[in-house]
Amino acid sequence: MEKITYQLGVGAVNLSEKSKRYVEEVLRTNRLSYGPFSQRFEKVMAQAHDCKVAVFVNSGTSALQIAVMALREKYGWQDGDEIICPAVTFVASSNVILQANLKPVFVDVDSRYYNIDPTLIERAITPRTRGIMVVHLFGQTAEMDVILEIARKYNLRIIEDSCETMFAKYKGRSTGSFGDVSCFSTYACHVICTGVGGLAMTKDEEMGILLRSLANHGRDSIYMSIDDDKTDDAGKLGMIMERRFNFIRMGYSYRATEMEAAIGLAQVEDIDRNIPIRRGFARFLLEKLSRWEKYIQLPATMEGAEHSFMMFPIVVKDVRLKRERLTLFLEENNIETRYMLPLLNQPFYKEMYGQDVEEKFPVAKWINTNGFYIGCHPDLTQAELDYIVAKFEEFFVEFERNR
Ligand SMILES: Cc1ncc(COP(=O)(O)O)c(C=O)c1O
Repeated sequence: MEKITYQLGVGAVNLSEKSKRYVEEVLRTNRLSYGPFSQRFEKVMAQAHDCKVAVFVNSGTSALQIAVMALREKYGWQDGDEIICPAVTFVASSNVILQANLKPVFVDVDSRYYNIDPTLIERAITPRTRGIMVVHLFGQTAEMDVILEIARKYNLRIIEDSCETMFAKYKGRSTGSFGDVSCFSTYACHVICTGVGGLAMTKDEEMGILLRSLANHGRDSIYMSIDDDKTDDAGKLGMIMERRFNFIRMGYSYRATEMEAAIGLAQVEDIDRNIPIRRGFARFLLEKLSRWEKYIQLPATMEGAEHSFMMFPIVVKDVRLKRERLTLFLEENNIETRYMLPLLNQPFYKEMYGQDVEEKFPVAKWINTNGFYIGCHPDLTQAELDYIVAKFEEFFVEFERNR
């Protein structure tokens, strides 16, 4: 098969005509700050994930940060209180815990599905545990029924870091609908991509007000949008004027613009041309790559779960085969790869928790050493998928010949 000369990325951006039309509408109306597109985007995203309120912000990390700070304020968490967090995730999940002066307590992940291993959570709970940061990696929801049971038993709050998982279900319930607050990212390569962006969602309307205030410098909720002082009622206007520049907590400036919301809204409206295609591509790769399962572990979907395949994770199983040999071969053939979210072996984490921190988390260590992912997004073509499969074959045939 002829070599593809452009990169098959782990994600792609390909803006639809509808996205462009919506952005043009934003430009035509000169309304860039929080307005109708942001409101529509928030509404459809909240509905799709069984939440009442969504707050659109400038990144998934910002969403996580206001989620942690909102829970900290509501439940009176103190410096040094503990939040359980998986030992494999993107750095932002645990960074936001640290940035809030809380302590992440790491728990190893499951070796088949890669999310937090619920059987290990209880032994990590101490009198200072306040919550669990559940991360739904690669497009699959964590084992929420067991996790919710533990949270109930120990009165813990749940933050869902669903930055990588949208429009997925677990046992009939939507990802993002289990926790006190759930957070999503719309950064490049994510299921919905607005360039930068994120959402914090909740079923609790009061929590929604708190989240929006935190994203708007800690402002009084009487004035969250430039439309909020448009009223003919003089009494009301006077009250708004009095309070609209009140900051009642220390917040952040995490607002996004109407342009990102317009791009996001168009994508959600066309979600049927996204998720089913990802699932179909994943099925194809699973079927074709299954011949090499003695060497690599392919992604699996938990019973009762639906996977939205933000990407296609692979772990090298055969110790004779170094991950780097395979990923270098793929990259040389223009198939982009990324390591599977190493966290505890990051230089900064090793400095903080000790050079041998990974030793306490054997599955995380195994994934950090052997895991990587490739793209599984709707902009791939069938010919490109065939090429990916052919390159795996070429690699393993050669590997077997030289053994
Ligand atoms: C699991 C997880 N959490 C948080 C984030 C942070 O999202 P953002 O890059 O939008 O800040 C990401 C981003 O890739 C992620 O994968």
